[in-house]
Amino acid sequence: MADSEIFQDRMLSLGLARVSEAAALASARMVGRGDEKAADTEAVEAMRSQLNMLDIAGCVVIGEGERDEAPMLFIGEEVGTGRGPAVDIALDPLEGTTLTAKDMPNALTVIAMAPRGTMLHAPDVYMDKLAIGPGYPKDVVSLEMSPGERVRALAAAQGCDVTDITCCILERPRHEDLIAEVRETGAAIRLITDGDVAGVIHCAEVERTGIDMYMGLGGAPEGVLAAAALRCMGGQMWGRLKFRNDDEIARARRAGIEDLDRIYARDDMVTADVIFAATGVTDGSILAGVKREPGWFTTDTLLMRSRTGSVRRMTYKTPAK
Ligand code: FBP
Repeated sequence: MADSEIFQDRMLSLGLARVSEAAALASARMVGRGDEKAADTEAVEAMRSQLNMLDIAGCVVIGEGERDEAPMLFIGEEVGTGRGPAVDIALDPLEGTTLTAKDMPNALTVIAMAPRGTMLHAPDVYMDKLAIGPGYPKDVVSLEMSPGERVRALAAAQGCDVTDITCCILERPRHEDLIAEVRETGAAIRLITDGDVAGVIHCAEVERTGIDMYMGLGGAPEGVLAAAALRCMGGQMWGRLKFRNDDEIARARRAGIEDLDRIYARDDMVTADVIFAATGVTDGSILAGVKREPGWFTTDTLLMRSRTGSVRRMTYKTPAK
């Protein structure tokens, strides 16, 4: 039987949306409370209990960390009833813990599912990322180009001036040179304080977000989640792991990475059909946050399947408990 038949992505997609909705509803209670850890814990517990209701034999490949540092949803944890297809799961129960604690835009809950053995087991190190939306020639930009070359190549492919290009970059001291080089070209930069899964997704919906290209160093696990999203929405992405010390190299080796300098294209990180769900926790440019009205909660979820390229936006209204 083909992988795709075993995977049952169509059947599982609504279940996946429920998982991300539950995590968002749980963490929404902690929006603006200044407690990152509590917000994350709420999301993790809710995501795990919903995930365990799904008829899958799931294995967390991108999770909350290694077994000794994460009590739940650790890498290697088996989830689901065990009665369905064997799948890999990549998740970030709360992408933007600081954004949530401070009630800032673009905090999301994120989860992706694909047939077993088809997602990169990215260790918790940094990844140098580059992403653009759909509709460009293959490899029009690359990680080997300088930031200025990337901006000029993208402008040429769009047939616009470099000043019409907007790049999204995480605001971090490590990005000072990158930001200066992009500014020198005349391109605009949208600086974000956190949340680079959303940063990458922005490129796939340029008319909504105004972002043409994402670049810079962020978490490698978030890189795999972003690759899953772009595999559904279209768009190109590349990532290269960046190690700061021997311990990080050892983590990569334990995760089975042999070539430490490899550049992973989008489909090297997620090699088969995937389903992806994200729910807004705080309001953002791609999703609305959880709304609280007397007696009701409402969530906004993006639910996508790469096999069909379907992108659903789902509103879920539930009585407040
Ligand atoms: P968390 O919500 O898990 O803390 O991640 C937020 C985030 O901004 C990611 O989106 C990004 O990939 C990573 O942190 C960047 O790491 P750092 O804060 O070390 O620059």
